[in-house]
Amino acid sequence: MKTDKKLFIETYGCQMNFSDSEIVASILSENDFSTVDEASSADLILINTCSVRDKAEQRVWKRLKELRAMKKKNPNLKIGVIGCMAERLKDQLFETEAVVDLVAGPDAYRDLPSLIDAITSGQRAANIQLSIEETYEDVEPVRYDSNGISAFISIMRGCENFCSYCVVPFTRGKERSRNPETILNEAERLFNEGYREITLLGQNVNSYHWEQDGDSMDFPRLLASVAEINPLLRVRFTTSHPKDLSDKLIETISLHPNICRSIHLAVQSGSTSVLEQMNRKYTREWYMNRISAIKALLPDCAISTDIIAGFCGETDKDHQQTLSLMEWVPFDYAFMFKYSVRSGTIAEKKFTDDVPEAVKAERLKEIISLQQKLSLRSNKKDIGKVFEVLVEGVSKKSVHSMMGRNSQNKVVVFESSTSKPGEYTLVKITSCTPATLIGEHVN
Ligand code: 5AD
Ligand code: SF4
Repeated sequence: MKTDKKLFIETYGCQMNFSDSEIVASILSENDFSTVDEASSADLILINTCSVRDKAEQRVWKRLKELRAMKKKNPNLKIGVIGCMAERLKDQLFETEAVVDLVAGPDAYRDLPSLIDAITSGQRAANIQLSIEETYEDVEPVRYDSNGISAFISIMRGCENFCSYCVVPFTRGKERSRNPETILNEAERLFNEGYREITLLGQNVNSYHWEQDGDSMDFPRLLASVAEINPLLRVRFTTSHPKDLSDKLIETISLHPNICRSIHLAVQSGSTSVLEQMNRKYTREWYMNRISAIKALLPDCAISTDIIAGFCGETDKDHQQTLSLMEWVPFDYAFMFKYSVRSGTIAEKKFTDDVPEAVKAERLKEIISLQQKLSLRSNKKDIGKVFEVLVEGVSKKSVHSMMGRNSQNKVVVFESSTSKPGEYTLVKITSCTPATLIGEHVN
């Protein structure tokens, strides 16, 4: 294969986007491109973008301004914007930023080679067509920025939940599931290459459903099949919607020790009336019921979440309910955000963004500070316990320490001169910070 053009991909946003960048690298590797580690040595820079919050988009606009200088120095450099922001803002990207040569939405990556041909001859080119069937299931991702131990496999695309605050159904289109055989083949190949942890990815993995010629597959069965490839392979999944978190899924996890004891279950708010306004299709009580079901069968399971502060109509009482739910669960980890209006969403059309910015900021501050307390409390409870840790590499903080994760997805740092990446090792926890467990290797 001839690879004489240099490609640099910069990725923003969720794990799906990182996984998409690997698909893009693969499609372009068939077209004479190899990936490089630095933007400065590239012939083509692709920015894979996120639209989920205003902040994510602002970062990309800022980055595009920086790239102007690079393009001035190297007029042959081509720049493309791909992903969710490309889908949402095609015309605006071309109108506002002269540096942008190419725009491609999340379902248009197979068209990149021809779009690149067009820009090479000096035109601007775009494809933001969404698809009802594209899953890239036959594309073998190029894992260009990988630790060689953990990998992600995208099992479905799109989302049809239409949470009222969310832009994803508009940028990523209809939900579609990938052929399970191609998923299992990819997982098996990764295991044979030395990977030891696979995360199955989708906007809502619980609604994974595939059907063809009388055969069908749901998410619990798919998860079990991946786990059964080898007991030395750890399996994770993200992200699940509480409304679809079935008892069958929890049972499947409990029957497989190598399906990790860590569930990410975005709650968004602890108030039933805010949840209704968000179109989440569950109540506070339903969410609590799902947490109880997890704890009953998986007592050592870590639970993480996403929370939005200051959604339209949120009162102080609603906010207090979010805080009390956080304590009740209690979450081991959380991603926490201030609500930002996204154009085209149901909330933008129907509701008023009526929580003042200062109140949103104050509520977010309270949520973050409570979560820090809960994370620290959760980590302190682990002191004295022994965990099986999958070693990922040398710790960033000290070359004498190794780092890995336990089944609960907590980062564990420990001293060891014998542990190697890809191995499982037992670590006894001796101390912690809110974000890390610290321990020693035990035999
Ligand atoms: N404002 C703030 N946060 C949002 N999220 C999604 N849309 C918005 C928005 N408009 C958060 C949700 C979601 C996570 C990926 O981003 O918490 O789960
Ligand atoms: Fe961002 Fe959502 Fe698109 Fe992921 S799917 S890149 S989180 S907007």
